[in-house]
Amino acid sequence: MQKRLDSMGKLLSGLAVDNWHNIENGTRGLIETCEAIDWSEPGKELFKKRDDAFRSAAEILMEKVNKKNLADTQRAFIQVTIACWGCHDLPPE
Ligand code: HEC
Repeated sequence: MQKRLDSMGKLLSGLAVDNWHNIENGTRGLIETCEAIDWSEPGKELFKKRDDAFRSAAEILMEKVNKKNLADTQRAFIQVTIACWGCHDLPPE
């Protein structure tokens, strides 16, 4: 999760100053975290579903980044941010 936060920071700063190197690194970092987290434990089904939504948002972001379209990339970044809250807004158990 720390890596998610770091990647979002890179993305945000990249988007603010139009630095595609940071935008690409941040996006790649997010996609890598999707592979690294194991949600297969019992009771984690809801997290798993939310993380699938997160991964789709990150993949759409990657498509926009590959096209180097700043406005579309900014919009896709917002969708990824909303996907963070998909889990982080869940009530504590
Ligand atoms: C699929 C659910 C899910 C999504 C999506 C998700 N998180 Fe998390 N996050 C968790 C859970 C569960 C924890 C607590 C367990 C842990 O630390 O791994 C956590 C913990 C954290 C922490 C505190 C712990 C740490 O390692 O520093 C941060 C910061 C964090 N998440 C940031 C993010 C950001 C930023 C995003 C979006 C880019 C995000 N999370 C998306 C489930 C999620």
